[in-house]
Amino acid sequence: MSSNQLLQEFNDNPFDQFTQWYRKSNLPGMAGWIFSLQRAIYNFLSRWAPELERISDNAFSLSTFGDRGPESRIVLLKSYDEKGFVFYTNYDSQKGRSMEGESRVHMLFYEPFPLRQIRISGVVEKTTREESEAYWSTRPKGSQISQAASHQSVEISDSDNIHQRVAELKVKYKNTPVPCPENWGGYRITPSRFEFWVGRASRLHDRIIYERQDNGGWKKFMIQP
Ligand SMILES: Cc1cc2nc3c(=O)[nH]c(=O)nc-3n(C[C@H](O)[C@H](O)[C@H](O)COP(=O)(O)O)c2cc1C
Repeated sequence: MSSNQLLQEFNDNPFDQFTQWYRKSNLPGMAGWIFSLQRAIYNFLSRWAPELERISDNAFSLSTFGDRGPESRIVLLKSYDEKGFVFYTNYDSQKGRSMEGESRVHMLFYEPFPLRQIRISGVVEKTTREESEAYWSTRPKGSQISQAASHQSVEISDSDNIHQRVAELKVKYKNTPVPCPENWGGYRITPSRFEFWVGRASRLHDRIIYERQDNGGWKKFMIQP
């Protein structure tokens, strides 16, 4: 297939292309079969091993730039639409403080089978309080208590007992909902550039780029492997 033909196969809208890869719809031939089989096995086994449900394919690496230089860590993509990609965290964490100073961030999704990666550059902003609270209310109480008790990324000192805080919060909110902490909430990343990378055995990998244009549209082109 020529580069031009391949480029035509990619959706003109990068969000639609993202959805196709993220949902793993339209996986070609053998890859589709293996993916469906893997899903079926996980679903079956998770009756006895609930932790298998936690094998999430919504994880991505988030890179930020802060006072310690560039840093990456895994977070979970909770929702996305044409406005951007949303994840949740502690606003006072290392990443939260980094994004306060530098709003340009980078997202990386890696998929070993079929071999692919998606790289997204964008600018981050906090979600509205209503959006964060709405998501918080869907979380299991145990997670809410752990998140409310943790001063994420802060050094643990002898006098600071997180387990005691968890125990106290469990008692405090035994019969009432745990309120969403002020320093906890979502971020939305508005993308300006996508790269869809397709691994090829020949090492002549395909790289399809989308760049946001001033008129809000997207320019789609390929770059060398
Ligand atoms: C699979 C996986 C999913 C994670 N999801 C999140 C998440 O959604 N939000 C979050 O704050 N941390 C998440 N973490 C923990 C982060 O990787 C990181 O340890 C934490 O956010 C503190 O990062 P920081 O000190 O750079 O702020 C996840 C880790 C893993 C391995």
